[in-house]
Amino acid sequence: MDNAIKFSGDAKWLRMEAQAADGGVAIAVSDRGIGVPREEEQKIFEKFYRVGRSDTQARRGSGVGLALVKHVAEAHGGRISLERQSGPGSRFTLWLPR
Ligand SMILES: Nc1ncnc2c1ncn2[C@@H]1O[C@H](COP(=O)(O)OP(=O)(O)OP(=O)(O)O)[C@@H](O)[C@H]1O
Ligand SMILES: [Mg+2]
Repeated sequence: MDNAIKFSGDAKWLRMEAQAADGGVAIAVSDRGIGVPREEEQKIFEKFYRVGRSDTQARRGSGVGLALVKHVAEAHGGRISLERQSGPGSRFTLWLPR
């Protein structure tokens, strides 16, 4: 949610959904912000990685948020993923086993 707000600029739109899925719970956070370039989709989960373009660099951050979420999710047997979607923005889903 912090990322969704930070990387949205004037596009103030955010959605959170939670649903039972695959024997666990899936929590999705969607925004209509600047989006993640396709070629950097996997890198953003690495520690200290931030998308290189200037509109990202202008926003404060260390690049640890997603790496931390991934680490904690996996320690609980879960996972985090970024889904490609049509239109602008991003949609991240955190899945945790029940
Ligand atoms: N919702 C989003 N929309 C667009 N880009 C995103 C979004 N979430 C993450 N990113 C990209 O992924 C990078 C890594 O995210 P991460 O949360 O790990 O770091 P950060 O937000 O830059 O810093 P920190 O979380 O440590 O304050 C971001 O710098 C940004 O480039
Ligand atoms: Mg962050």
